[in-house]
Amino acid sequence: MQHESKRYDFTDKDAGYQQLTADLTALLAGESDPVANLANTAALLFEALPAINWAGFYLLRGSELVLGPFQGRVACVRIVLGRGVCGTAAEQRATQVVPDVHAFPGHIACDAASRSEVVVPLLEAGRLIGVLDIDSPEPGRFDAHDAEGLERIAQVLLAASRFPPGSP
Ligand code: SME
Repeated sequence: MQHESKRYDFTDKDAGYQQLTADLTALLAGESDPVANLANTAALLFEALPAINWAGFYLLRGSELVLGPFQGRVACVRIVLGRGVCGTAAEQRATQVVPDVHAFPGHIACDAASRSEVVVPLLEAGRLIGVLDIDSPEPGRFDAHDAEGLERIAQVLLAASRFPPGSP
């Protein structure tokens, strides 16, 4: 499949995410392999979202999150549930918008350039699959519009993908 690199306009964030959601739906259509879909979703987000330095996934393996497909600098591999922004989102099963990562207790610094972060849990019929994590070098880069837009992106990814029973 051909995928043209194109510019997204996030001046109006909701409009930007609407376009991105439509493109992700088309990109994943007809493919249910979870690794392929996680990888292409990370690549699309990294290319489309302005002012970010990391976009990717951690997947639940037992009581830990383990690094999955991502774009950006190499990252820490294992995160215990409840630790850092990712572990908190996973444990609470709730999206975390962190305007200043230095002020977040227990934040795990993978890339020293990261200043703000948003993490969305991947929940399929009540089952925690993992989390979507996006980092930015700008403080306060993410708000409720990003949280909502990325939750919709996560829904598209989950609807398209067949995660095997047990650990993904
Ligand atoms: N900062 C995250 C760890 C993952 S990296 O940002 C890629 C956290 O505190 O959970």
